Amino acid sequence: MTIEDIRTVAILGAGTMGNGIAHVFARCGYNVILRDVEETFLARARDTIARNLDREAKKGKIADGEQSRILGRVYTTTDLSEISRADFAVEGVPERLDLKLSVLRDADKLLRPEAILASNTSSISVTTLAAATGRPDRFIGMHFMNPVPVMVLVEVIRALQTSDETFHSTMALCERLEKKPVAVNDAPGFVSNRVLLPMINEAAFAVMEGVATAEAVDAVMKLGMNHPMGPLELADFIGLDVCVNILEVLYDGFGDSKYRACPLLRKMVAAGWLGRKSGRGFYGYAGR
Ligand SMILES: NC(=O)c1ccc[n+]([C@@H]2O[C@H](COP(=O)([O-])OP(=O)(O)OC[C@H]3O[C@@H](n4cnc5c(N)ncnc54)[C@H](O)[C@@H]3O)[C@@H](O)[C@H]2O)c1
Repeated sequence: MTIEDIRTVAILGAGTMGNGIAHVFARCGYNVILRDVEETFLARARDTIARNLDREAKKGKIADGEQSRILGRVYTTTDLSEISRADFAVEGVPERLDLKLSVLRDADKLLRPEAILASNTSSISVTTLAAATGRPDRFIGMHFMNPVPVMVLVEVIRALQTSDETFHSTMALCERLEKKPVAVNDAPGFVSNRVLLPMINEAAFAVMEGVATAEAVDAVMKLGMNHPMGPLELADFIGLDVCVNILEVLYDGFGDSKYRACPLLRKMVAAGWLGRKSGRGFYGYAGR
């Protein structure tokens, strides 16, 4: 599949990442088939895309009046068989190996043989996912960042089996989406999470050991290292449960104790203090 052949894109999963990925493809002129398991999730995704397009129109990123045309390119469905029309598919279902394997196997059977299948996994081995399909050479990792319409990076992860053609088409596709693709090979945590999560973990250890408050740790990193967000503010944004899960992937994948999740992170997750989404993490978000 060359870049010129890609016109219709299927997105599997209409959650946080799926609706953002659908938004970006539609904004760049692609027809999108957005699939989720329930109509309510699809309705919520359409609302989110509409709201984010309005925000972009207000900021002048898209012309005012473009919103309905862009949204008109997003076709939503609960019927998986409709993805058979797609030239390219991106899977964005929750980060569970069993679920991803089942969704990818089903999608693989429906897609045309030449279509490329990508996963937005943030931590699962792309090589393992590729091996579960009948198109391992046409399989690739496409790790978008949250919020997708805003963040420019796409970490493009080559599975061991990914062909050069699939790799080059995916890199070119990212450019068409006005993103900056960075190519990495498949390894636990890829580059983004392998570098980011140990920093977040170390920041949590510093708080746990009483070296400094969360505010002080974040202030050091923002004011001293020019990070736009402190590591603990970012951990709250990502979700502390997600952070612990990714640390476990690094710990298991490398068999190295340096990736051991900080006990304070585990304790906060056990308390249900998951960050922004639960209203409390290292910071409080009540009423925000
Ligand atoms: N949230 C982030 O910051 C972030 C960043 C980068 C990558 N990711 C990765 O993106 C993927 C999705 O994460 P998310 O945060 O969007 O999750 P989410 O829970 O917000 O959305 C997942 C969606 O998938 C749907 N779904 C479940 N089973 C399905 C199926 N069989 N077919 C179609 N849809 C199905 C769910 O109903 C839900 O709407 C994960 O692999 C995650 O690791 C997330």
